[in-house]
Amino acid sequence: MAKERETERLRLTYGQVGGGPGSLIGPVHRAALAMDGQAELVAGSFSWLFDETLEAAKALGVYTERTYRTFQEMAEKESEREDGVDFVVITTPNHLHYEVAKSFLERGIHVVCDKPLCLTIEEAERLLKLVRETKLEFMVTYTYTGYPMVREARQIIRNGGLGDIRVVVAEYPQAWLAEPVEETGNQQASWRTSPKYAGISNSVGDIGTHIENLVHFTTGLEISRLSAKLETFVSGRKLDDNAYILLEYSGNASGSYWVSQVAVGNENALRLRVIGTEGALDWRQEQPDQILLARKGKPMAILSKGNEYLNEESQLFARLPPGHPEGYFEAFANLYRSFCSKLISKKQSIEEDKLFTDVLDGARGVKFVHDCVTSSNRGSEWIDGSFKI
Ligand SMILES: NC(=O)c1ccc[n+]([C@@H]2O[C@H](COP(=O)([O-])OP(=O)(O)OC[C@H]3O[C@@H](n4cnc5c(N)ncnc54)[C@H](O)[C@@H]3O)[C@@H](O)[C@H]2O)c1
Repeated sequence: MAKERETERLRLTYGQVGGGPGSLIGPVHRAALAMDGQAELVAGSFSWLFDETLEAAKALGVYTERTYRTFQEMAEKESEREDGVDFVVITTPNHLHYEVAKSFLERGIHVVCDKPLCLTIEEAERLLKLVRETKLEFMVTYTYTGYPMVREARQIIRNGGLGDIRVVVAEYPQAWLAEPVEETGNQQASWRTSPKYAGISNSVGDIGTHIENLVHFTTGLEISRLSAKLETFVSGRKLDDNAYILLEYSGNASGSYWVSQVAVGNENALRLRVIGTEGALDWRQEQPDQILLARKGKPMAILSKGNEYLNEESQLFARLPPGHPEGYFEAFANLYRSFCSKLISKKQSIEEDKLFTDVLDGARGVKFVHDCVTSSNRGSEWIDGSFKI
């Protein structure tokens, strides 16, 4: 008898679509899932090329009989097996997210999908409806919500620690598309700059959605109106590589976002500043273990992850004692730990809080991209940016 059986430990199984040889985020999902040992990879359709799928399956120890030519075949066959996967992880380019997610939801399989959720508002609405009907779990991996100090920021703000929010300033500058690297065959650049695979936007869809989610997740603010200017600096590129977005939220708060992939000198410099009537905070993705917190009339404080003075959820999301750096992999693993715990508790009919971003957050992101492109196409006209799906 297997050891797991002896201990009666519930372990999940999953399959992956995408994440083949040379891919960027697929291996990160697998590493994050391996960190807590709650789920085992047993099936896959890892690439659009079957040779690559076979190569990946061999390297990852997935049996040939559960290695599939297409995601449709995988959804069908896995749903017919008694020991079929508990959930699927979708790490393909954006254009496939909708069809893959739909295929698995329709066959009763839980879904994890990377952002952006899908390409159009109609697709987002349909996925949302399917999730509500099937009552399946659906996580959208907004990675940055997995950092302990993002959880801390959320608690500080939501507990009124900054007073009433007045101003949000967020930016996500990168430099990697400052040259036409898509013309050199760079896999990640090629599809991100193609409307067929990326959708109506490159930079706003790819990294602007992270800002939108981070702001909503931490502050709870709902966008009411926005004005966006999307630009393309690299000649011949079909989609935006730089964007400015001005926002008004319900209530009195306002904000500005800067998204760029041509910002020479920057690596992955996502930064969030939130300013309220009583204080302000500043979080930077490249130093994710800290928050700068200013309270009116008091000196600036540096809060650091893993400490007992932090809120409970933030402490839960820290895996190591203070001063031991944690990063991107751990943030991803924190999301997966929350997701897997939810599935395991479901199997045991136990109610558990949902500590991960879901299909509704994904739909909000899709609406945001759509609004930014609409505003920009109308000469940066201020438009209704509210989310009413
Ligand atoms: N959460 C984050 O921080 C984060 C970071 C990077 C990428 N992403 C998202 O993850 C997704 C993947 O991005 P990436 O940079 O890893 O892309 P990538 O180009 O590196 O990898 C995509 C993989 O999908 C496979 N694929 C393509 N068509 C397929 C099909 N029909 N069936 C099976 N597999 C197929 C490719 O062969 C490849 O292995 C994108 O939606 C992107 O926006 C999210």
